[in-house]
Amino acid sequence: MFTIHHVDIKLPGMRIIDNLKRIPLFSRLNESELNRIERSGVLRTFAAGEIVFLENSPADSMYVIMSGLVKIYKIDSDEQGIDICMKREGDFFGELAIIDGDLRSANVAAVEESVFYVLERDSFLKVLSSSTDMFSHVLTSLTRVIRNNSENIFREKLAKQNLQTEMEIERHRALSQMVAGVAHEINTPLGILRTASTLIHKRLNVSIMKELLDDERYSDTMEDILEAADLMQGNITRAHQLVESFKKTSVSQITGKLEDVDLPPTIAEIVGLFSLNAKRAGITVVVADDVPVENRHWVGYPGYLSQIILNLLSNIQRYAYPDRAGGKVDISLSCRNESNPPLFVLTIRDYGRGIASENLQKVFNAFYTTGRNCGGTGLGMAIVHNLATSALQGKVSIESEPGEGTAVTLIFPQRIKEAEPDREA
Ligand SMILES: Nc1ncnc2c1ncn2[C@@H]1O[C@H](COP(=O)(O)OP(=O)(O)O)[C@@H](O)[C@H]1O
Ligand SMILES: [Mg+2]
Repeated sequence: MFTIHHVDIKLPGMRIIDNLKRIPLFSRLNESELNRIERSGVLRTFAAGEIVFLENSPADSMYVIMSGLVKIYKIDSDEQGIDICMKREGDFFGELAIIDGDLRSANVAAVEESVFYVLERDSFLKVLSSSTDMFSHVLTSLTRVIRNNSENIFREKLAKQNLQTEMEIERHRALSQMVAGVAHEINTPLGILRTASTLIHKRLNVSIMKELLDDERYSDTMEDILEAADLMQGNITRAHQLVESFKKTSVSQITGKLEDVDLPPTIAEIVGLFSLNAKRAGITVVVADDVPVENRHWVGYPGYLSQIILNLLSNIQRYAYPDRAGGKVDISLSCRNESNPPLFVLTIRDYGRGIASENLQKVFNAFYTTGRNCGGTGLGMAIVHNLATSALQGKVSIESEPGEGTAVTLIFPQRIKEAEPDREA
């Protein structure tokens, strides 16, 4: 299909050296070493459209573009060319080939008539082996290239990971906001319904109604009406409670007060709120506090933190140690001063039933619950996630092993940036 041919031409007085210097591999070479390299190569002209080399062909030389323009491209499975990049005067390509002599990883074609300085692997290796200094210079540069590359890969990986976390938080936030929005809309008609049902309930309990109830002719009908009114009242109250918790999935719907508190006693207080439930369920909560005295201050929202902790503790009661099985809960608090801003690390760990790995990531999803038949709504962990990431400006993670228990870890800054929770409003 393509014919590959080169026209070898003599070296004119072009500043090849200036271009060679820019190649990272040669960055440590001095002027005389560069001169020797320059003399080992040749100049070649490629016509517009001519292929310089094809993917998977053996790599035997590197190219510096003295003039012209080239296109680096790949061929995908549909035989379509995908351009990777263009290179122009002063750029170079195929430089690693002179080290490893591997197969080419892409195709290169001249877009317009181009002149390249071409250095063949064999000639390069010959110069290199003639001088240990030069060899060591190239080796140092090569090490640096490799190090830079691995650093780039690491940085890219980190960026990708951060993006994924952000996307995850965004997904949770969007869903929570939708739930809270719907709840807000339902709230008004529900409020009216509630007032109306209270009125009906009240009216049915006046004495004339009681007389009707005692009257044989009406008693069945009256009993039905009273029962229906009770049902209405009870379920409307339940619906109201649900809507209230739906609203809480979005931080903008709950209010918190920014306070400067001593964190360990604040946590002890929150745990105290749970003590009655704990006693009934046979749960012992032990708080371990590893925070040095000088780092105990937290500028944050204790109200939100208490919602988070109480949600986690009630989950432990319901799911980790069900049926009053009882057990231990370890809460540990430490701080990380080396990070900026300094962070608190709070872990709440149980040794109960645990969560199967395929369900672990679902626990933060709104409406995911395994306790639908015992009053679960699946909103608790969604609220925890949202409060931890939005209101406390931190992170939350969960680890669990079936039969071994579950640990939820919150990491949040010791000083919250103000105005942040309004972001959602
Ligand atoms: N400590 C725990 N141990 C075992 N399972 C848990 C624990 N915490 C949460 N879960 C699981 O995560 C699910 C979601 O929890 P959550 O969002 O609070 O909803 P809900 O409590 O309404 O079920 C629960 O239904 C349960 O299956
Ligand atoms: Mg819950």
